[in-house]
Amino acid sequence: MIAPSILSADFAHLADEARRVEGSDWLHVDVMDAHFVPNLTLGLPVVESLLKATDIPLDCHLMIEDPGRWAPPYAEAGAHNVTFHAEATDDPIAVARDIRAAGAKAGLSVKPNTPIEPYLEILREFDTLLVMSVEPGFGGQSFIAHVLDKARTVRRLVDAGELRLIVEIDGGINADTIEQAAEAGIDCFVAGSAVYNTADPGATVEKLRRQAAAVWH
Ligand code: DX5
Ligand code: ZN
Repeated sequence: MIAPSILSADFAHLADEARRVEGSDWLHVDVMDAHFVPNLTLGLPVVESLLKATDIPLDCHLMIEDPGRWAPPYAEAGAHNVTFHAEATDDPIAVARDIRAAGAKAGLSVKPNTPIEPYLEILREFDTLLVMSVEPGFGGQSFIAHVLDKARTVRRLVDAGELRLIVEIDGGINADTIEQAAEAGIDCFVAGSAVYNTADPGATVEKLRRQAAAVWH
């Protein structure tokens, strides 16, 4: 699966920017609150408008404090997947249950230096694990390869039937890095600058998908 990130799109024309990547599996929407990360992007009203503007399932990545309070409304609004950060809450299970009860898939995200071991036990409460391969906050950063160890660990558990989970990666994914991520067992690739900083984002999504699929087959 390829999930273009609209962080690198033109925020004044989001409906058009979504249309340019119509064949994508998910549309990745980065919500930042200028507290959990040192950047500010968009929030619920923009997501509600996007939901009306596109049929692509929205993958909302909440880089925010207090997800217990702010995450469920994204699910209620109709987001397909709502992912929050493990580092932002003491009770990830409660947040995941609230997101699922509100009708969305629940995702857990970990920053590059956050180990996965303390969370393995609770991953059965989630539908998605989002492994960050850059420090969250900005697009266009370089891929941090050591996070792939976490992807391999979780992929083994999924393949062994111990977990049912989409393993997603976010940050620095492009034509040079997508194959090593696919080899580590990633199912879903977020790509912002690599998609939207090209003349034909839709064609770039197809190219990335073919590259990843060639590794898997
Ligand atoms: C960064 C965001 C990413 C960002 C990725 O904090 O979570 O989704 O858009 O951008 P690229 O693909 O350019 O690294
Ligand atoms: Zn993201």
